[in-house]
Amino acid sequence: MKIIPGLATAAVTGLAVLFAESQREMHTFRVNRYSVRVPGLSGCRLLFVTDYHEAVNGKLNPGLLEASRKIRPDLILIGGDLVNGQKPYENVMPAVELVNGLADIAPVIYGYGNHERRLMFMSGKEGYDWDGYRAKLDPRVKFLMNDHTSVTIKGKKAKVYGLDVGYDFYRKHGLTLPVEEINKLLGEREASLPAILLAHDPSWFEAYTGWKADLTLSGHYHGGIIRLPVLGGIVNPKFQPFPKYDYGLYEKDGRTMLVGSGLGQHTIPVRWFNTPELVAIDLVD
Ligand SMILES: [Fe+2]
Repeated sequence: MKIIPGLATAAVTGLAVLFAESQREMHTFRVNRYSVRVPGLSGCRLLFVTDYHEAVNGKLNPGLLEASRKIRPDLILIGGDLVNGQKPYENVMPAVELVNGLADIAPVIYGYGNHERRLMFMSGKEGYDWDGYRAKLDPRVKFLMNDHTSVTIKGKKAKVYGLDVGYDFYRKHGLTLPVEEINKLLGEREASLPAILLAHDPSWFEAYTGWKADLTLSGHYHGGIIRLPVLGGIVNPKFQPFPKYDYGLYEKDGRTMLVGSGLGQHTIPVRWFNTPELVAIDLVD
């Protein structure tokens, strides 16, 4: 019976190839470009950075900063989860170096992910230091936690909002985010100016469009970790299989959500057919 050793050899070889491919993907990145309609901001270019998760301990930073410079963004928007915040004394310096490098390229607005929230929540416990992280970051970086800021890009005005929905929405199953909750956290959007919403978790697309965000930028799902042809990402952070809003552009009522696959990983250090990405967005009328 030579068939069993043959199958075992094929299985081991297959796993070795997949492991090597995952390692290769996690140590590289690509630039993905989109053109998105946001009335009033035509001609503006955004750079969207999300779910960096200490991108393999900072090894991607030189390439990321060089690519970011070449994109020549007017504004850099961060979708959260630059840090891990999972263990005491986790090294935040790769994220600090990245953000501070980005701040030399264009204005940076930083929205929170669940991992920033976790680091903040754990602060005060031995080895967790949110204030220390914030203090290391360039003071030009604008943080938005259930807050908004006005921007002017090439003479065009807009508002950027940063939503933090709270831990229950990240952890519990069966919840729905109502528009009223966003109104409670952010207020109603300013009707007279284009509204860009940083909302880490893409699960609540209907609420974001219901709140009337012109462009929502999300991450959180890491593209579904492993991406399969046709089926897309296989799982989200709640371990729900084949999540609906796993990656790319979604549109409703003329409003768009862009979900980035992020730059790093944590807990399950795997990426297959899901190369980390920087996202460049050209806005059109
Ligand atoms: Fe993440």
